[in-house]
Amino acid sequence: MNSVFINGEVVDRANAKIDIEDRGYQFGDGIYEVIRVYGGNTFTMKEHMVRLYQSAEKMKLEIPYPEEELTAHLLKLIDSNQVKDGIVYLQVTRGVSARQHHFPSGDVIGSVVAYTKDFPVPSQQMELGVTAKLLEDIRWLRCDIKSLNLLGNLLAKEEAASEGHFEAILHRGDTVTEGSSSNAFMVKDGVIYTHPATNLILNGITRRVIEGLCRENTISFQEEAFLVRELLEADEVFIASTTSEVMPVIKIDEQTIGDGKPGPVTKRLQALFSERKREQSPVK
Ligand code: PDD
Repeated sequence: MNSVFINGEVVDRANAKIDIEDRGYQFGDGIYEVIRVYGGNTFTMKEHMVRLYQSAEKMKLEIPYPEEELTAHLLKLIDSNQVKDGIVYLQVTRGVSARQHHFPSGDVIGSVVAYTKDFPVPSQQMELGVTAKLLEDIRWLRCDIKSLNLLGNLLAKEEAASEGHFEAILHRGDTVTEGSSSNAFMVKDGVIYTHPATNLILNGITRRVIEGLCRENTISFQEEAFLVRELLEADEVFIASTTSEVMPVIKIDEQTIGDGKPGPVTKRLQALFSERKREQSPVK
């Protein structure tokens, strides 16, 4: 089945139509979430929904459904498409109105679409580790909003990917911020460091799960920004996101990290993360 959710209805994808004056299409004036499905159950759905409504508030965007109703629509879509291991992509824009930069009047209703996609866990890369390229963070100063405006992220990812890297790790001046579509972490002397959840990064849901796992298992976790030089001299580096979970980074540019293999702290977190996936009771 290839059903999608569009403005209140679940329909066949071929019948879903978006107006060319949708503000998401014209301006990137909208927000989104990518939510994991494991074995047919959503993972951290509540956290993603809360972040969606927070992003909406930060850009004065009204989501036309209450959270519980939108969640129910997504669960119906997952059922309808019989998703096992995959993702749900959910997007809300400021709706359709004659093109103008300022916001349309209050009677314009936001457009909400969602679709599902199979997305197996990238097990091989998680086991072997991946490489990354360091690039200057040229994005805007509200990276805490999960907005559709991703051009800065795309340019970085494209440059990294065209050279065979899995991810671009971004830095503002000397300070490491995050990946182009992930959060970045380094391990030094048994302590995990990651950039604090300020306007300069997206406060990832996977990042927060990792933080919780560290707290529960007395692994030292510091929300403290670190420098490019410190990253390159780290014992271990990993990135984290909904789609890549806890992903070891074994080489950055020409610099091998640690001994060039996924390190013990990263592997322990991967094991704890897998356990958490199994434990998490389904939303439905
Ligand atoms: N990306 N930082 C950025 C810039 C991101 O785009 C993402 C997620 C993350 C990690 O957030 P989370 O753990 O909530 O997935 C951090 C998603 C997966 C994407 O755009 O496809």
